[in-house]
Parts: sequence; structure tokens; C-alpha cells
Amino acid sequence: MTTTATKPAHPPGARPRAAITARTLRTDRWWLAPLLTVVGLTAWVGYAVFRTFMHQWYWVEDYHYLTPFYSPCITDRCIPEAAHFGTYLPGWWLIPEAAFSLPFPLLFRLTCYYYRKAYYRSYWLSPPACAVPDGHSRYTGETRFPLIFQNAHRYAFYAAFVISIINTYDAILAMHSPSGFGFGLGNVVLWGNVTLLWAYTISCHSCRHIIGGRLKHFSKHPIRYRAWTVVSRLNARHMELAWTTLATLAVTDFYIMAVAAGWISDLRIVG
Ligand code: FES
Repeated sequence: MTTTATKPAHPPGARPRAAITARTLRTDRWWLAPLLTVVGLTAWVGYAVFRTFMHQWYWVEDYHYLTPFYSPCITDRCIPEAAHFGTYLPGWWLIPEAAFSLPFPLLFRLTCYYYRKAYYRSYWLSPPACAVPDGHSRYTGETRFPLIFQNAHRYAFYAAFVISIINTYDAILAMHSPSGFGFGLGNVVLWGNVTLLWAYTISCHSCRHIIGGRLKHFSKHPIRYRAWTVVSRLNARHMELAWTTLATLAVTDFYIMAVAAGWISDLRIVG
């Protein structure tokens, strides 16, 4: 005779789970946050793709404004003055002007701990909210292909750090006018964007670990401790910074497009 060992449904002594047929007992608008996330992220990605393949209105010659969506500009299609680091790729329609840099911020955000939570909940419904069941019957976490690559986030952070330096360089070069030094509303927009991009980048969880992780005694590393406290304060605002920088990137790009296209004039303060 053979016996089959069956796993008890509940730990010994535990009370069985209530037989609830409802999918969730939540009566609040738990679906609103995932819905807004889908709308916000889809709109942003749509705009970014549209602008990336527009191939025009990314550079303002008089003031040297270069939109972050086209920086660094490295295809043969680039306006020579906007190609600060030279051109290396053919100017085919399918190749974005910033083909070198765009994948890295994208990877940085795609693997970001906050965005992971946001899109797992909203696009994959896994789960859509607390106390609401997963939209899928199986859950394998991030232990298998392709999601195991989410663990590469630390390396994406290093790349995003370099891209932030390039964005800062662009903002410095944009302090320009036809007569030399210049400053206008476009510079305010560019510097506001760069400052917030830095805040988002260094508020990253990986950055916090790189700065203050693996230390046994903070007292023996006062400089790292000070840096860690600053990063930790920003880290508490990581979600807000994630959304704010999406907005500032789009606003910066749109402003430069509008000036480059001649729809508006830049408001000049100096030069
Ligand atoms: S950028 Fe969000 S956790 Fe690193």
C-alpha cells in the first residue's frame, strides 16, 4: 500500500482562513493609484518616443540650448555645433541622435526600485494594491529571466551618474548668447532640470548603499556618514523625485523645441 503525504493547509494550531469569496474587501478607490500610474507613464513614454524620432528642434543656435533628449548628439544628422562629443553613428531615421545615452537613463528608471513597484502594480497587477489579489496565478518574483536583470540596477546607477555629468556640461555650455555670456529663461529651465536630475540620481537606493553600506562604524567614517545622511534624506523623497524629473525632462524638452521651432522667444535676462 502506498501513502501520499499531503501538506497541511495551515500550520498546526492555526485557525483556518476565513472562506471569503470576494476578490478584495477594500472599499476605497485602491485602483486610482495604479490607473494614474499607467496614464502618466504611458503619456510620458509616448511623448519621449515622439520627440526622439522627430529629429528636429532640439538645438537653439543663439543660446546653445540642447534638449536632454538629444544629448550627447552623436549621429551624422546632428547639427555640428550641437555635437559636443563628435559624431560616430550614421544619420538613419531609426537611430536617435542620443543613441549612446538614451538606453542608460531608460535602464536606470526601468530597474529603479520605485518604478518597479509602480509598473508591477499598475501594468502587471502584481499585485495592484495591498490586500488586493495578484492578477496572475503564479508568482516567481525577480529570481528568473528576464526579471533577474533588475539586479543590475547598481550598474545602471553608475551610467546614469555619467549622463548627469553630461547634462550638467550642457547646462554650462548653454550660458551663452550671440555676444558671449548669456542667461535667459531657458537656462532657468535647464538648471532646474539638471538640479532635480541630480537629486533623483543620488537619492537612488543603490547610491545610498554605495555611500553608507558595508560600514561597521559610522564614527570611523565621518565624511561617508555625512554624505549618507544627505542621501538618506533625499532617498525618502525618491518617489516624488522620480515623477518630478519626468515632468522637468518633458518641460525642458518642450521649451527648447518651442524656442528652436520659433513658436516662442526665449525670455532673456542677460545677453
Ligand atoms: S533610481 Fe530608483 S532606486 Fe535607484
